[in-house]
Parts: sequence; structure tokens; C-alpha cells
Amino acid sequence: MMLSGVSHDLRTPLTRMKLSLAMLDDAEREPMERDVEDMQRLLDAFLDFARGNAESGAAEPTDAQALVAQIVQDAQRGGTDVTLAQSQGEGVVTLRPTAMRRAVENLIGNAVRYGTRCEISVVLTETSLRIRVEDDGPGIDPERREEAMRPFVRLDSSRNQDAGSGVGLGLAIAADIARVHGGVLRLGQSDRLGGLSADIVIAR
Ligand SMILES: Nc1ncnc2c1ncn2[C@@H]1O[C@H](COP(=O)(O)OP(=O)(O)O)[C@@H](O)[C@H]1O
Ligand SMILES: [Mg+2]
Repeated sequence: MMLSGVSHDLRTPLTRMKLSLAMLDDAEREPMERDVEDMQRLLDAFLDFARGNAESGAAEPTDAQALVAQIVQDAQRGGTDVTLAQSQGEGVVTLRPTAMRRAVENLIGNAVRYGTRCEISVVLTETSLRIRVEDDGPGIDPERREEAMRPFVRLDSSRNQDAGSGVGLGLAIAADIARVHGGVLRLGQSDRLGGLSADIVIAR
């Protein structure tokens, strides 16, 4: 609570800095603006994480396949190279749709950041739901997968440095959301594409 309070309080001075910077006529302006934007992004990611499950919405009977299809469509519209490769089974699952969307979007974001394209598959059985997100990137070594799911852990940060705005929370948030659903986030290697395969598996 303390950390999220501090993060929240830092937003106002950062916004003021950004406004002052915008009025500067100086060669230093642009890099400083980028720094401020980085800080804002970090704070937003942290607040998002601190809010966690409190704001993940109520659980409701959900058509999981339709939800994932919608997430994929939205990502495609945003220019992301993602396809729904398989959608199998039928019925409704009790889910927190907003949280589940966030989890899947985090995994897709990683897939296209560390790889170039992403394939999703949904398998619904009598007893379980599995949402799998695969990519063609370098994957994660088996002995580092647990570590990668911890908050604020970024692996091989030298390689990732300019690959986006991550602060090491994407997998931690996805794992948390899987857990709130009584499930798990499981990382493996993709047979389909060779990169990472990230499964959210929950019991029905
Ligand atoms: N799809 C992926 N392919 C390869 N490495 C990944 C993938 N997803 C996550 N990682 C590794 O796991 C680390 C943690 O991921 P994440 O929690 O999403 O943090 P972030 O993306 O902000 O660095 C990343 O820094 C990266 O090294
Ligand atoms: Mg990430």
C-alpha cells in the first residue's frame, strides 16, 4: 500500500515536469521527455500490479472462446501479428473477463516483443480451460522460467533493453490472474513456432 501510495503521488510532479519540458527550447528536451515517459510508464505498470486483483472485476459465466477471439481481433486491429490457430470445445466458464483479458494481452505483448508473431489456441474440456500463447522468439530456458514469472524480473536485460517498455511485471501479473482463477501459468517451449509457449490453465 505504501509503495502504491508513493507511486501515485509521483504522478503529479512527473506530469508537471512533462509540461515544463514541453516548453523548453533545448537540445536536451527530447531525451528528458523520453525519461519522464519511461518513469510514467513504470509507475503505471506498478500501480496496475499493486491494484492487482482488487480491481479485476467479478467472476461471471463467460464464453471463453468468444472472449479470446475478441482479444485476438482487438490486437489485430492494433497491428499485432497474432492469429487464433485453434479453438476447441464449447460451453461457458466462470471467469473474471477483464482480468483474463489483461493476462492474455500481457502474454501476446511478450510474444510479439521477444518474437515476431504469435499464435493462440483455446482448448476447453469438461474439466479445464487452457489458453495457450505461442511465439517464434528465443523462448526462456527451462531453469529460468520460474524466475521470469516473479515481479520485476527481466531476463537478459541487455538484449531486451530497447525492445519496449517492460518493467518485468507482465508474466507476474498473468501468473497472479491465473492463480485468482484457481489455475496456473505454465511456461514451456512452443512445438508450433519454436519460441515460448505460455499456458493459462484453469479448472472448470
Ligand atoms: N515470449 C517470450 N519470449 C522470450 N522471453 C520472454 C517472453 N516473455 C517473457 N520473456 C522474458 O521474461 C522476462 C519477464 O517478462 P515480463 O514479466 O513480461 O517482463 P517484461 O516483458 O516487462 O520484461 C522478460 O524480461 C523476458 O526476458
Ligand atoms: Mg512483458
